[in-house]
Amino acid sequence: MSLTDRLPTAIQPELALTALAPMQDVTDLTFMQAIAHYGSPDYFFTEYFRVYVGSRLEKHILRSITENNTNRPIFAQLIGESIPDLVRAAQELSQYAIAGIDLNMGCPAPRIYRKNVGGGLLRDPDKVDRILGELRSAIPGLFTVKMRIGFEDTANFDRILTLIDRHNIDLLSLHGRTVKQMYRGDVHYDRIAHAVEWLNCPVLANGNVSSAMSAATILAKTGAAGVMIGRAAIRNPWIFQQIRQHLNGQPVAIVTLADVRDYIDRLYEMVKTQTDYERSRVNNMKKYLNFIGQGVDAAGAFLSEMRLTRSEAELFDVCDRYLLSNPEREFALEPYPGLVARPSCESEKLSLPQNV
Ligand SMILES: Cc1cc2nc3c(=O)[nH]c(=O)nc-3n(C[C@H](O)[C@H](O)[C@H](O)COP(=O)(O)O)c2cc1C
Repeated sequence: MSLTDRLPTAIQPELALTALAPMQDVTDLTFMQAIAHYGSPDYFFTEYFRVYVGSRLEKHILRSITENNTNRPIFAQLIGESIPDLVRAAQELSQYAIAGIDLNMGCPAPRIYRKNVGGGLLRDPDKVDRILGELRSAIPGLFTVKMRIGFEDTANFDRILTLIDRHNIDLLSLHGRTVKQMYRGDVHYDRIAHAVEWLNCPVLANGNVSSAMSAATILAKTGAAGVMIGRAAIRNPWIFQQIRQHLNGQPVAIVTLADVRDYIDRLYEMVKTQTDYERSRVNNMKKYLNFIGQGVDAAGAFLSEMRLTRSEAELFDVCDRYLLSNPEREFALEPYPGLVARPSCESEKLSLPQNV
């Protein structure tokens, strides 16, 4: 299949779609490739390109487009509020093999929303109207939006949904929380159902889709065209394949602790190329293991021990003891209750994503 063959000219809502959620500092080229090894989603989204006066497209994010061999369409995500610069960035990106442009209207980090970008835009529907209008005219291909249900509350939600329709957005990825909720608290699937009902374009339901079974429940509850998955895909990269199996009425593939140990090696292969410092490699691995550990043991002993390690030898010793002493044991499909991916010293960025 050539690059152009795999670029969609329209989103196909008749299939239940899956997408890997964009995650800054996570969903880079190598992580997308690791995910693809276990079963690609239908769509990938890049980390966001920051757009401002004089901004340049970040090279490491561009690599996830130019060197991507997953054979799946990739949307390039932008974050910003300067209309001429957003238009310029969209035009620059159109020279690459992207499936479309995605606009970030959901980022909840205070240092981001205070600049009226990301989730901050949800406070200003007039600005949203102008940005969507200008970008829509400038983007000949697919133009998608990722957003939350509101800033502090859902007062602007219906108005923004109207704008999504008016500007012929091709796909909406909707995280069913407000910006102020950050990553905690209930996901308001009823608001996602409302958007599905309201909009002409397909909607991807996002927020706490934790397994194939939960994806099916959320699809039924919301009527969404598909699901977008972030953190659960770090814990369980088999999730996209499992969703397809479950929705096709097939048994969901069992993942063993030995399979998880292999996944950790695969992650380590990519982490190794990123830094020469052992301490940084250990901390980078902990970012992922914070999520993976939620499915290893119910008591959270793996997580506690893993977080205390300081060297690669200690880290892999913990992985081997917990994952290879009983390698045929099943990896939990859902995270064990009460085990949260809380920060371990240097791995705060991924574990507590307040900076995105
Ligand atoms: C580490 C991390 C980084 C994120 N970076 C981005 C980003 O660059 N762009 C974006 O639109 N959302 C970003 N998000 C939000 C996710 O795309 C997603 O909306 C959120 O995690 C809820 O989905 P989940 O419950 O499946 O994780 C990030 C989330 C995490 C955990």
